[in-house]
Amino acid sequence: MPTTSHQREHYGLRYMMASAPAMRRLKRGNNSRLHGSKNWGAAFLLMEYLSQHPLPPNRSVLDVGCGWGLAGLYCRKRFNSAVTASDADPAVFPYLQAQADINDLTIDTEVWRFTDVPGDALAAADTLIASDICFWDDMAEEVYQLIARAVEAGCGRILIADPGRPPFLAVAEACIEDFYAELVPVRAYTSRPHRGYVLRIENA
Ligand SMILES: C[S@@+](CC[C@H](N)C(=O)[O-])C[C@H]1O[C@@H](n2cnc3c(N)ncnc32)[C@H](O)[C@@H]1O
Repeated sequence: MPTTSHQREHYGLRYMMASAPAMRRLKRGNNSRLHGSKNWGAAFLLMEYLSQHPLPPNRSVLDVGCGWGLAGLYCRKRFNSAVTASDADPAVFPYLQAQADINDLTIDTEVWRFTDVPGDALAAADTLIASDICFWDDMAEEVYQLIARAVEAGCGRILIADPGRPPFLAVAEACIEDFYAELVPVRAYTSRPHRGYVLRIENA
Protein backbone atom coordinates (compact mmCIF):
# COMPACT_ATOMS: atom_id res chain seq x y z
CA MET A 1 0.00 0.00 0.00
CA PRO A 2 1.39 3.42 -0.90
CA THR A 3 1.96 5.64 2.15
CA THR A 4 3.18 8.83 0.41
CA SER A 5 4.18 9.51 -3.17
CA HIS A 6 7.81 8.74 -2.25
CA GLN A 7 7.22 6.00 0.30
CA ARG A 8 5.79 2.53 -0.18
CA GLU A 9 4.87 -0.42 1.96
CA HIS A 10 5.10 -3.99 0.68
CA TYR A 11 5.75 -7.27 2.48
CA GLY A 12 4.99 -5.43 5.73
CA LEU A 13 7.99 -3.15 5.28
CA ARG A 14 8.08 0.57 4.62
CA TYR A 15 10.66 1.80 2.17
CA MET A 16 11.61 4.98 0.38
CA MET A 17 11.89 5.60 -3.31
CA ALA A 18 15.13 7.15 -4.59
CA SER A 19 12.99 10.25 -5.22
CA ALA A 20 12.09 10.65 -1.51
CA PRO A 21 13.32 13.99 -0.14
CA ALA A 22 15.30 12.23 2.62
CA MET A 23 17.09 10.04 0.06
CA ARG A 24 17.72 12.97 -2.28
CA ARG A 25 19.24 14.92 0.61
CA LEU A 26 21.52 11.96 1.36
CA LYS A 27 22.52 11.76 -2.30
CA ARG A 28 24.02 15.24 -2.21
CA GLY A 29 27.64 14.50 -1.33
CA ASN A 30 27.12 10.77 -0.71
CA ASN A 31 27.18 8.89 -3.98
CA SER A 32 27.23 5.11 -3.95
CA ARG A 33 29.75 3.69 -6.39
CA LEU A 34 28.70 0.09 -7.01
CA HIS A 35 24.99 0.41 -7.89
CA GLY A 36 23.76 0.68 -4.31
CA SER A 37 21.66 3.60 -5.52
CA LYS A 38 18.07 2.40 -4.96
CA ASN A 39 16.01 -0.53 -3.72
CA TRP A 40 16.53 -3.17 -6.42
CA GLY A 41 13.70 -5.44 -7.54
CA ALA A 42 15.55 -8.62 -6.57
CA ALA A 43 15.11 -7.68 -2.90
CA PHE A 44 11.35 -8.14 -3.45
CA LEU A 45 11.97 -11.52 -5.07
CA LEU A 46 13.80 -12.57 -1.91
CA MET A 47 10.98 -11.22 0.31
CA GLU A 48 8.42 -13.11 -1.76
CA TYR A 49 10.46 -16.30 -1.48
CA LEU A 50 10.89 -15.83 2.29
CA SER A 51 7.18 -15.14 2.75
CA GLN A 52 6.56 -18.59 1.25
CA HIS A 53 9.55 -20.28 2.92
CA PRO A 54 9.87 -18.53 6.30
CA LEU A 55 13.12 -18.63 8.27
CA PRO A 56 13.05 -19.98 11.82
CA PRO A 57 12.67 -17.06 14.26
CA ASN A 58 15.50 -15.45 16.25
CA ARG A 59 18.37 -16.76 14.10
CA SER A 60 21.33 -14.97 12.57
CA VAL A 61 21.23 -13.62 9.02
CA LEU A 62 24.08 -12.15 7.00
CA ASP A 63 23.03 -9.92 4.07
CA VAL A 64 25.95 -9.41 1.66
CA GLY A 65 25.96 -6.58 -0.89
CA CYS A 66 23.06 -5.20 1.14
CA GLY A 67 22.73 -1.81 -0.58
CA TRP A 68 19.77 0.02 0.93
CA GLY A 69 19.12 -3.03 3.08
CA LEU A 70 15.52 -4.09 2.40
CA ALA A 71 16.08 -7.85 2.45
CA GLY A 72 17.88 -7.80 5.80
CA LEU A 73 15.33 -5.39 7.26
CA TYR A 74 12.58 -7.77 6.16
CA CYS A 75 14.28 -10.66 8.02
CA ARG A 76 14.66 -8.47 11.11
CA LYS A 77 11.00 -7.50 11.05
CA ARG A 78 9.38 -10.75 9.96
CA PHE A 79 11.59 -13.36 11.72
CA ASN A 80 13.26 -11.25 14.44
CA SER A 81 16.58 -12.29 12.89
CA ALA A 82 19.83 -10.88 14.24
CA VAL A 83 20.95 -9.27 10.98
CA THR A 84 24.38 -8.14 9.87
CA ALA A 85 24.18 -6.19 6.61
CA SER A 86 27.46 -5.85 4.73
CA ASP A 87 28.55 -3.98 1.64
CA ALA A 88 31.81 -2.96 -0.01
CA ASP A 89 30.53 0.60 -0.27
CA PRO A 90 29.99 2.42 3.04
CA ALA A 91 27.99 5.10 1.18
CA VAL A 92 24.95 2.76 1.18
CA PHE A 93 24.58 2.66 4.97
CA PRO A 94 22.92 6.06 5.55
CA TYR A 95 20.15 4.97 3.14
CA LEU A 96 19.81 1.64 4.93
CA GLN A 97 19.68 3.48 8.26
CA ALA A 98 16.94 5.82 6.99
CA GLN A 99 14.83 2.79 5.99
CA ALA A 100 15.56 1.05 9.31
CA ASP A 101 14.40 4.20 11.14
CA ILE A 102 11.03 4.42 9.38
CA ASN A 103 10.41 0.78 10.35
CA ASP A 104 11.75 1.15 13.94
CA LEU A 105 14.31 -1.56 13.27
CA THR A 106 17.99 -1.96 14.16
CA ILE A 107 20.54 -4.03 12.28
CA ASP A 108 24.35 -4.12 12.37
CA THR A 109 26.41 -3.04 9.38
CA GLU A 110 29.90 -3.96 8.18
CA VAL A 111 32.04 -2.69 5.30
CA TRP A 112 33.09 -5.96 3.68
CA ARG A 113 33.80 -6.84 0.07
CA PHE A 114 32.65 -10.36 -0.87
CA THR A 115 36.29 -11.45 -0.65
CA ASP A 116 36.68 -9.92 2.84
CA VAL A 117 33.67 -11.41 4.63
CA PRO A 118 35.41 -13.12 7.58
CA GLY A 119 35.17 -16.88 7.89
CA ASP A 120 33.80 -16.60 11.44
CA ALA A 121 30.95 -14.37 10.18
CA LEU A 122 30.09 -16.99 7.54
CA ALA A 123 30.27 -19.77 10.15
CA ALA A 124 28.06 -17.82 12.58
CA ALA A 125 25.34 -17.09 10.01
CA ASP A 126 22.38 -19.45 10.01
CA THR A 127 21.38 -17.93 6.66
CA LEU A 128 23.34 -15.89 4.13
CA ILE A 129 21.07 -13.76 1.94
CA ALA A 130 21.81 -11.50 -1.02
CA SER A 131 19.91 -9.83 -3.83
CA ASP A 132 21.25 -8.62 -7.16
CA ILE A 133 24.95 -8.94 -6.33
CA CYS A 134 26.19 -10.54 -9.57
CA PHE A 135 25.60 -8.12 -12.42
CA TRP A 136 29.01 -7.89 -14.15
CA ASP A 137 30.90 -10.82 -15.64
CA ASP A 138 33.93 -10.16 -13.46
CA MET A 139 31.80 -10.43 -10.28
CA ALA A 140 30.92 -14.08 -10.91
CA GLU A 141 34.18 -15.52 -9.57
CA GLU A 142 34.03 -13.42 -6.37
CA VAL A 143 30.43 -14.41 -5.75
CA TYR A 144 31.15 -18.09 -6.43
CA GLN A 145 34.12 -17.99 -4.03
CA LEU A 146 31.98 -16.32 -1.35
CA ILE A 147 29.39 -19.09 -1.70
CA ALA A 148 32.08 -21.78 -1.60
CA ARG A 149 33.57 -20.25 1.58
CA ALA A 150 30.11 -20.03 3.18
CA VAL A 151 29.41 -23.70 2.39
CA GLU A 152 32.82 -24.71 3.74
CA ALA A 153 32.34 -22.60 6.91
CA GLY A 154 29.06 -24.39 7.64
CA CYS A 155 26.59 -21.55 6.98
CA GLY A 156 23.26 -23.41 7.10
CA ARG A 157 21.40 -21.86 4.20
CA ILE A 158 22.32 -19.59 1.29
CA LEU A 159 19.64 -17.65 -0.62
CA ILE A 160 20.59 -15.33 -3.47
CA ALA A 161 17.92 -13.57 -5.51
CA ASP A 162 18.51 -12.21 -8.99
CA PRO A 163 16.47 -11.14 -12.02
CA GLY A 164 18.42 -13.72 -14.05
CA ARG A 165 21.46 -11.85 -15.29
CA PRO A 166 23.95 -14.03 -17.23
CA PRO A 167 26.80 -13.87 -14.63
CA PHE A 168 24.37 -14.91 -11.89
CA LEU A 169 23.07 -17.80 -14.01
CA ALA A 170 26.68 -18.94 -14.60
CA VAL A 171 27.31 -18.94 -10.84
CA ALA A 172 24.02 -20.77 -10.29
CA GLU A 173 25.00 -23.47 -12.79
CA ALA A 174 28.34 -24.01 -11.00
CA CYS A 175 26.59 -24.16 -7.59
CA ILE A 176 24.04 -26.71 -8.85
CA GLU A 177 26.98 -28.84 -9.98
CA ASP A 178 29.21 -28.31 -6.93
CA PHE A 179 26.83 -27.76 -3.97
CA TYR A 180 23.50 -29.36 -4.97
CA ALA A 181 21.99 -25.87 -5.25
CA GLU A 182 18.50 -25.31 -6.67
CA LEU A 183 17.34 -22.43 -8.85
CA VAL A 184 13.79 -21.50 -7.82
CA PRO A 185 11.77 -19.23 -10.17
CA VAL A 186 10.02 -16.42 -8.26
CA ARG A 187 7.54 -13.69 -9.15
CA ALA A 188 6.89 -10.74 -6.85
CA TYR A 189 4.46 -7.85 -7.16
CA THR A 190 4.90 -4.36 -5.77
CA SER A 191 3.72 -1.38 -7.77
CA ARG A 192 5.13 -3.41 -10.66
CA PRO A 193 5.90 -7.07 -11.31
CA HIS A 194 9.34 -8.59 -10.65
CA ARG A 195 10.52 -11.90 -12.14
CA GLY A 196 13.63 -13.87 -11.43
CA TYR A 197 15.15 -16.59 -9.29
CA VAL A 198 16.35 -17.52 -5.86
CA LEU A 199 19.48 -19.66 -5.81
CA ARG A 200 19.03 -21.91 -2.77
CA ILE A 201 21.63 -24.01 -1.02
CA GLU A 202 20.54 -26.00 2.04
CA ASN A 203 23.78 -26.80 3.81
CA ALA A 204 22.48 -28.15 7.13
C1 LIG B 1 22.53 -3.88 -7.47
S1 LIG B 1 22.95 -3.44 -5.82
C2 LIG B 1 21.85 -4.46 -4.86
C3 LIG B 1 21.66 -3.91 -3.47
C4 LIG B 1 20.65 -4.67 -2.60
N1 LIG B 1 21.09 -6.02 -2.32
C5 LIG B 1 19.27 -4.67 -3.22
O1 LIG B 1 18.78 -5.73 -3.64
O2 LIG B 1 18.65 -3.59 -3.28
C6 LIG B 1 24.53 -4.26 -5.56
C7 LIG B 1 25.16 -4.00 -4.22
O3 LIG B 1 26.33 -4.81 -4.09
C8 LIG B 1 27.39 -4.04 -3.58
N2 LIG B 1 28.65 -4.60 -4.10
C9 LIG B 1 29.11 -4.57 -5.38
N3 LIG B 1 30.28 -5.22 -5.48
C10 LIG B 1 30.56 -5.68 -4.23
C11 LIG B 1 31.65 -6.45 -3.69
N4 LIG B 1 32.66 -6.86 -4.45
N5 LIG B 1 31.62 -6.76 -2.37
C12 LIG B 1 30.56 -6.36 -1.59
N6 LIG B 1 29.52 -5.62 -2.04
C13 LIG B 1 29.53 -5.28 -3.35
C14 LIG B 1 27.12 -2.62 -4.08
O4 LIG B 1 27.75 -1.62 -3.31
C15 LIG B 1 25.60 -2.56 -4.01
O5 LIG B 1 25.15 -2.07 -2.77
